[in-house]
Amino acid sequence: MAGISTYLWPGQVHIGAGAAKLVGAQVQALGISHAFLMTDPGILALGLLDPLMQSLADAGVHVTRYDDVIPNPDIESVHRAAKAYHLCGAESIVGVGGGSALDTAKAMRLLLGGPNDAGISEYSTRLGAEARPAPQVCDMPALIAIPTTAGTGSEVTPWAVITDKKEKAKFGVGTGNLLPTIALIDPELTLSLPPDLTAATGIDALSHLIEAYVSTNHQAALDPLILRGIELIGQHLREAVHQPDNLHARTAMVEAAMLGGIAISSNWLGACHALAHQLSSFADLHHGVAIAVMLPGQMANNLSETPERYADIGQALEPQLMPGNTVSKRGAHAVKAVRRLIGDIGLPARLGDAGVDQSLIPAMASSAYLKDFNWTTNPRAIDQVAMQQLYDEAY
Ligand SMILES: [Fe+2]
Repeated sequence: MAGISTYLWPGQVHIGAGAAKLVGAQVQALGISHAFLMTDPGILALGLLDPLMQSLADAGVHVTRYDDVIPNPDIESVHRAAKAYHLCGAESIVGVGGGSALDTAKAMRLLLGGPNDAGISEYSTRLGAEARPAPQVCDMPALIAIPTTAGTGSEVTPWAVITDKKEKAKFGVGTGNLLPTIALIDPELTLSLPPDLTAATGIDALSHLIEAYVSTNHQAALDPLILRGIELIGQHLREAVHQPDNLHARTAMVEAAMLGGIAISSNWLGACHALAHQLSSFADLHHGVAIAVMLPGQMANNLSETPERYADIGQALEPQLMPGNTVSKRGAHAVKAVRRLIGDIGLPARLGDAGVDQSLIPAMASSAYLKDFNWTTNPRAIDQVAMQQLYDEAY
C-alpha cells in the first residue's frame, strides 16, 4: 500500500425495529412516484411485504411488484428483471430479501444504467477478464435495500454475486457506484427466519468480519467496527438461532451483518470465500453452509501469517475462554471459538456431512484459483495445490 487508504462507506442507513416502515417516506423524499419492488416468493408468503406496501401506499407511491427473484440469481434472471422494469415504467427499485433479492436488484441497476446492448456478464470482475466500466450513479435508478436476513450485508456493499449456469461459476459485479442509495435495516423482518438459515447467514456475516480483519487490504479505521461486529456475533448468534423471536439478539445480528458489509466493501475478503463460492456453484450448497465448512480450516492455515490479528478475533468472539500466554495460542483460540460456535448452532463441520461429492474437489480448486479473485487479499499466499488441500482437509 502506498499510504492511501480507500474506504467505501454506505449511503443513508436507517437501522432498528420498524426501520422498514420508513420506506414510503424515503421513496417520497427521493421524489419518486413509481417504485419497482423486488422480492422472492418466500418473503411474499411470510407476509413481510404487507407493512412495506402499506407504507408506500400511505406515501402515495405507485408500486409494481416483482416476485420472480430466484435463489443464487443467474444471468437470465437478472436480464428478466431488467426487462420487467423497463416495461412497467418505474423510476426506482426497492429490493426486499436476502442476498439473492438484493444482488438481483444491484445487478439489474447496472444493466439499467448502461448501454441497452450490454449483458450483465460483461461487468464481471472475474480474474483475468476485463470488466465493462460501471455506469455513473446518476444514470442508474435509485435503490432502497431492505434485508430480511442478517448475513450478506449486501444492503451496504457495492457488489452483487451472479451465477453463470453454463460456466458453472459465480462472478461478482460492481464498483463503488453500486452502493445502495438507502438501506433500511429492520430486525423485525428477520424474526421469522428459521434456525438453520439464521445459523448459515450468521456465519456468513462472521466470515466477512474475520476475512476483512485479516485481509492484506485491512485498514485501520475499520478495526474497531469489525471487532464490535465479531463481539456481537459471539454474544448473540446462539440466542438468535435458539430463540428466533428474541428481538434483542436479532437487532445485534443485523448490526453485525451491516458491519461485515461495511468491512468487506473496503477491506475485501480472502480465500474462504473463493473456496466457498465453488461449493455453491458445483454442489449447490447454501453460501453460509459452504462458509461454515471452510472457515475454521482456512483460518488455521493463515494463522502463522498474522497471529496477533487472529488473537484480536478470538478475544472479541469468546473472551471468557481466552488463554493468556503466547500470541500463537491466543491466535489459535480464534479458530477453536469459531469451531465451537459452528457446532453450537448446528451447522455441518465437514464437506462430507454437507453432502458434497469428493470427486468435485480438483475442479473446484482449479476454479477457485483461476477465476475467483477473493483469495488475492488472503493474508497467507495461496495456490491451487493449497486450495485442494484445504478442501481435502475439510472433507
Ligand atoms: Fe459471504
